[in-house]
Amino acid sequence: MTLPLMQRGLAERLICLHDEIKGDESLAALSRIAVALYDDSTDLLKTFIHSSDGDSPLEHTVARLSELPTLQQLAWTGARRTINDLGAAAEAGQDQAVRLVASGYRSSYTVPIQHKGTFYGFLFFNAFIPNFFTAPVVARLRPYADLIALAVMRELDTVRMMAAAVKVIRSVSSARDEETGSHLARMARYARLIAAKVAPRHDLSDEFVEFVFQFAPLHDVGKVSVPDSILLKPGRLTAEEFEVMKTHVAKGVHIVDLMMQDFGLKSMPHFELLRNIVAYHHEALDGSGYPYGLAGDAIPLEARVAAVADVFDALTSQRPYKPAWTNEDAIALLQEQAGRKFDVACVAALAEDPAAVADIQSRFNETIFD
Ligand SMILES: [Fe+2]
Ligand SMILES: [Fe+2]
Repeated sequence: MTLPLMQRGLAERLICLHDEIKGDESLAALSRIAVALYDDSTDLLKTFIHSSDGDSPLEHTVARLSELPTLQQLAWTGARRTINDLGAAAEAGQDQAVRLVASGYRSSYTVPIQHKGTFYGFLFFNAFIPNFFTAPVVARLRPYADLIALAVMRELDTVRMMAAAVKVIRSVSSARDEETGSHLARMARYARLIAAKVAPRHDLSDEFVEFVFQFAPLHDVGKVSVPDSILLKPGRLTAEEFEVMKTHVAKGVHIVDLMMQDFGLKSMPHFELLRNIVAYHHEALDGSGYPYGLAGDAIPLEARVAAVADVFDALTSQRPYKPAWTNEDAIALLQEQAGRKFDVACVAALAEDPAAVADIQSRFNETIFD
């Protein structure tokens, strides 16, 4: 279900544009266009979308920008970089050059994507021949580069605008629950970690991973409709209260649908992904979840990812009625319930990388009950 929708997104438009660019004889040797996005809260630069002749070995890659000094320089200055002899750059140990050369590329042109002081990421152009990016070629590429950068920023701004709208909804409603800043920040990053590991097996792209990350924090938007007396109850909910709590899913779907209509975003390619996360994040593999009781693969992958990320963070966070569990205990519980409640591969992905989990926890460690 997800793949065709994702393919209509930016990634597909990039592939069309790449074809068009290669129709220009002087640009026919342009073999690869790729976009990497930057998350300044974690300093991570992540591969996002690409159009490549042949296999791109440069997918599913995450690196700290601070560990890529020459790219970091470009991010700061906004300068564009041409490397017409990647072989020499690789020998000099320049970041990324080694991997590009290993993939057969011999020249590159790099454009930082930025607007009004916000740095979004990089646009990479590559060719299999050396000295491809001459001054006239770079001049011809410039309008295309601007166009791609604009499309990327527009798409990301749309997502940010929706996130901002949700923030407003939450702040004007009196609802205050555990679903605040740091829970959402951690949960989104666990979701990205999991999505990045399971995506290749499902033939899903980095674009899928990025939008799981962007949309995961909106999973509980419907909780604004749950009364504080239930939302903030410092103990177990009664059966009746739990029934009310469950309505946050349908409410969330309603809110997301309204937002889509009002923002005119019905055609946004990733809308379905957001909606699926909101609608199905409480479903369980064995059909015992709520509100739909879907089972197995009928639960969209993005929702299975979000569920594991959400529960892991809830377990490892302190609540008024419970202490924070250790990561090991939380993983053990998830593993014990993997295959019945939770997706096995999603749990394994989280269990596989305790260092990344700890890094996320150290970056977003505020507890709201302090
Ligand atoms: Fe929820
Ligand atoms: Fe949550």
